[in-house]
Amino acid sequence: MSNKNTGRILIADDEPNIRRVIEAVLTKDGYEVISAENGKRALDAVSTNTDIDVLISDLIMPDINGVELLEAARQINPSISVIMITAHGTIKSAVDAMRLGAFDYITKPFDMDELKLVVKRAFERRSLIEENLDLRQQLKTRYKFDNIIGASSAMQEIFKMVERVADSRASVLIRGESGTGKELIARALHYNSNRAQNPFVPVVCVALSEQLLESELFGHEKGSFTGAINQKPGRFEMAHTGTLFLDEIGDIPGNVQMKLLRVLQEREFERVGGLKTIKVDVRVVTATNQDLENAVKEGKFREDLYYRLKVVQINLPPLRDRIEDVPLLVEHFINKYSKDNGKVIKFASPEALELMMNYKWPGNIRELENTLERAIVLADPDAQMITPDLLPLNIRSGQSVNR
Ligand SMILES: Nc1ncnc2c1ncn2[C@@H]1O[C@H](COP(=O)(O)OP(=O)(O)OP(=O)(O)O)[C@@H](O)[C@H]1O
Ligand SMILES: [Mg+2]
Repeated sequence: MSNKNTGRILIADDEPNIRRVIEAVLTKDGYEVISAENGKRALDAVSTNTDIDVLISDLIMPDINGVELLEAARQINPSISVIMITAHGTIKSAVDAMRLGAFDYITKPFDMDELKLVVKRAFERRSLIEENLDLRQQLKTRYKFDNIIGASSAMQEIFKMVERVADSRASVLIRGESGTGKELIARALHYNSNRAQNPFVPVVCVALSEQLLESELFGHEKGSFTGAINQKPGRFEMAHTGTLFLDEIGDIPGNVQMKLLRVLQEREFERVGGLKTIKVDVRVVTATNQDLENAVKEGKFREDLYYRLKVVQINLPPLRDRIEDVPLLVEHFINKYSKDNGKVIKFASPEALELMMNYKWPGNIRELENTLERAIVLADPDAQMITPDLLPLNIRSGQSVNR
């Protein structure tokens, strides 16, 4: 069996045997491992090796104890993940360590499989955080208002609304047909808020079964259902201090609706199969293209939840109702896809633009974007503009699907 684990681990423990065993097991697993026989040495290692990902530390050591080491190491390298080793009977300190930011703890005597799992999870968690950071950098430049195109008064009102409510923790419900930009607005709400530096966590609710959705959102404890091999934090915990974006909210099943209502009201929940109440500070943004009022009437969607979610409501109009935005969007997407495809096209011919302004765009901005990408890909390498022949037949013939 091949193991593709990579990463740097530092072990701090005053017992040579424990150090040696852990080192051997994790090295065999593919990690790069260094050890230190006391807290002081461990701190030196953290200062000289800035690329240590995970620190596994004994809680009780003669000089600097595990909790002190955790705090000092964090000051030198804030992104280090710490796993605490505790002896039976020191659980309370382990919990304290978790409160101070340790990722997890294992209790002596531990078996090696347990250790490997905890380490693996620490690395998984790291890559999630890193992905999120990357994405955040990217999105900061991509989701500024000036990248959300909209000159129509309807869109201008929406931009004002986003600015006005961004900093509040009030739930926002974004509504609109498919492809109108609901997700874009959800991200704009986050990146224009004082939570912008904290996580933005999207969840597509419709993609998951009831049980999976519940554990995805709220996490689960080890053994809470078949397949729950480990304890797992949910999206609500990951979104702590940030924003949780629940897409396609109209589809969530009844028991998840109830649990969601409680988080919105009390800001607390328990993991699936768990007893501990977890408190979170999360801004919830939801989106749907469904008729929620009707779902409430039919008893499929809780009325109390419906009101909780739509404290602020943003309605994205279909593109056919803001046809004046089409020329700007066309220019925006031509710029984007010309660059991406190494073409020199700068604009659409008047005839092509007219066709696009007469079309009803049932797939809204997504359809317009796809249409222009296709046209640019199809265009001759030296073409200067988008001409009608590059547009799909239904747009060219002026026979748009009327809705
Ligand atoms: N105002 C806009 N300016 C620029 N691009 C936009 C705008 N609105 C939407 N887009 C682009 O159109 C595409 C669809 O947008 P988005 O995914 O946000 O729509 P949606 O409403 O969430 O759709 P769905 O309901 O199908 O999930 C994306 O590529 C997005 O970047
Ligand atoms: Mg969407």
